[in-house]
Formats: sequence, structure tokens, C-alpha cells
Amino acid sequence: KKVVLAYSGGVDTSVCIPYLKQEWGVEEVITLAADLGQGDELGPIQAKALKSGAVESLVEDATKEFVTDYAFKAIKANALYESRYPLSTALARPLIAKLLVDAAEKYGADAVAHGCTAKGNDQVRFDLGILALNPTLKVLAPAREWNMSREQTIAYGEQFGLEFPVKKSSPFSIDRNLLGRSIEAGPLEDPMTEPPEEIYLMTKAIADTPDTPEYVEIGFEKGIPVSLNGQTLDPVALISQLNDVVGKHGVGRLDMIENRVVGIKSREIYEAPALLVLIDAHRDLESLTLTADVTQYKKGIEDTYSHLIYRGLWYSPLKESLDAFIDHTQERVTGMVRIKLFKGNANIVGRQSDYSIYSPNLATYGEDDYFDHKAAEGFIYIWGLPTRVWAEKTKG
Ligand code: ARG
Ligand code: SIN
Repeated sequence: KKVVLAYSGGVDTSVCIPYLKQEWGVEEVITLAADLGQGDELGPIQAKALKSGAVESLVEDATKEFVTDYAFKAIKANALYESRYPLSTALARPLIAKLLVDAAEKYGADAVAHGCTAKGNDQVRFDLGILALNPTLKVLAPAREWNMSREQTIAYGEQFGLEFPVKKSSPFSIDRNLLGRSIEAGPLEDPMTEPPEEIYLMTKAIADTPDTPEYVEIGFEKGIPVSLNGQTLDPVALISQLNDVVGKHGVGRLDMIENRVVGIKSREIYEAPALLVLIDAHRDLESLTLTADVTQYKKGIEDTYSHLIYRGLWYSPLKESLDAFIDHTQERVTGMVRIKLFKGNANIVGRQSDYSIYSPNLATYGEDDYFDHKAAEGFIYIWGLPTRVWAEKTKG
């Protein structure tokens, strides 16, 4: 039996290698580490996988695909789970699932494996992503079943020659990619405990932010960010430069209690500086270019879309259908949004578009006013008819 294992170099995924071989009779473990712009050195990870007993250690750079095929779709959908979390971790899972399936098919593996636990969301996203892409592949999730504590897991690995750094391991569980970092567990499990400053890496504390405001101009084309301060950038450079400038001003942190797929409430800390600002700017540009009814209808679609991503249904007929709707709404979402960054705030202070349907002559209170004031009275009479009938009946 041959298995492709999603590999991060961490304790759980490393121990999965000997565990799969010893306990589940797997003959060959091929590891796959996805580079999604997390900034880790993947060379050592590759060596580590081989040392841990993998026959082959694959490293795939999928950062660009991650941004263009996953993050940009979420931005077009203004996707925020429970109105807040920009899905920075959740978006990576269907892509990793796809890389695993591609590798399994290429190397003729019978199964794919991951190191997710039974209480999380990621297991759902991996399992459903893999199932949707290739229903003939088996999914193995050793860490879901082995019931070992952290210490037992490490001891198990050491039995098979794995080495773990002596430094006391962090009490937090952290997931990171180009879009952001998700931090949970340890002292954060108490919802009243303020997150310690040192858990943040992409965003500065307000006390350490510049004392002068900084402006950024984000250019969009059909709902997709394409430029920063007038300079056209490739998708990965755009996100990483925006992460730096936004994070420098202390913008992009979230501290929330969220509802996991498996029914558990959990306390999560996120930092996703560029993604949060891009969604805000994108929504603002839509307010200039979309009609009121499209905007209102799209809000419901956005909420459904965010739930789909969170709940592991990226590869699904509903998601594809919603994409068709969203893409059509984005035809004229082209223009620029100006943002002022200062002391933890990102305020949108200007927007423009060749497709703007904002009408100065209708909006103005000055002399160039086109609006027919007399029409308002008749409109209100008819709009208010049901209210009049109801009020006369009940209050009269
Ligand atoms: N709760 C977030 C989500 O479901 C973050 C998950 C973090 N994953 C992890 N393996 N540490 O998207
Ligand atoms: C895990 O159990 O793999 C991490 C937590 C999560 O998936 O939400």
C-alpha cells in the first residue's frame, strides 16, 4: 500500500509517517509539503520527511495558484465567516487536497493521509475536498484515531528515531500561509485571557506603529486587486507588499469566538492584514459600481459562500453556481480605492471608477441638482399606502 501524506514538518505529521507504516501496514509513505507563502524553509522539511521514513518527499510551490484561484474568489465574494473571519486557513485546504489527489494519481497511491485531529475543521475540508476530486481514494487520518497526548506522540516518534527540538514547544496551535495566521489553544482557550503580544508576527502593536498616516491606493479589475499605489503587481507580490504596509500600521487582527463545523465553539486569534483590507476595499468599490438590488442580493450569496468555504464544500455544485453569479456581478467592479492607514485603523477615504453609477447631479444639494423634488411626494404617497391602510384600521 502506498500513501501520500500532507506534511508540514510538525510533530503530528512527522509521527504520522512511522505510525502509518507500523500500525496500519502502509508500505510506502510519500510526503507532500505545500508552499503557500508561509515563509518556512521547505528544504529542511524535505530532509526531515526522508529521515522520518518517507520514501519520497515532495514540495509543491502553489502560492500563486493559492492567490489567484482561491483568495481572489473569496475577495470577489467578500467572504467573511460569521461576518468576521476572512477564511485565510480554510481557503488553503481545498488547494492542498487538490495537490494530494494529483500526487496520489501521479504516483499510483491507493490513499492520501493528513494529520488533522477529530475536533477541528481542517479534517472536514481535507476529507471532503479529496472525496470530491477523487472518490476512489481512501483518506487516512491517524491523528484522529490514535488518542495520544502531545507527550505520548513525541515519545512514539522517538521510538522510531524521530528527533524533536529540545526547546519547549509553543502552547499554541498555529497555521500560517501568505494570507494570514490562525492561532488557537493554550492560554487562549480562556475567552477572557487577552492574547499575549508575542503571538502576532504580521501585525504590529499600536504602540509600535508609525506616528504619521500612510495612504495606499488599491486598483481593482473585475473585482480582482491588480495594483498598489498605481503600480501593477503580480498577485503574490501584491498580497505580500500589502501585508507589510498594513501590518506595519497595526491593522489586521481579530479575536473571536467562532462556531466550528463539528459544533464546538472555539476561541480564535487571526491576523490577515492584506486580506481584510482587500475585502473592505473591494466591498467599497462595489458600493460605487453595483446597483442597490444586486448589492443586497449578493449579501445573501456572500454569506452562503463563506459557509461553504468554512464547511469544506469548496468543490461542490453550489459553490460553482455561486461563482457564476458572483463573476457576473464583477464585470464592472473596476477602479481604485484609497485607504488611510494609521494607528490600527484602515479607513477608506476615496474611491473612483470609470463604471461608477454614482450620479453627482442626483446626489448634490447644490445648484446642479437634477432630482425632481415634486416626484418625492407622490412616491411617498404610494410607497406609504399599505402603512396608511394598516394605521387607519388599527390606530383610527
Ligand atoms: N479555526 C480556523 C479555521 O477553521 C483556523 C484553523 C487552524 N488550523 C490549524 N490546523 N491550526 O479555519
Ligand atoms: C486541527 O485539529 O487539525 C486544527 C484545528 C482545526 O482544524 O480547526
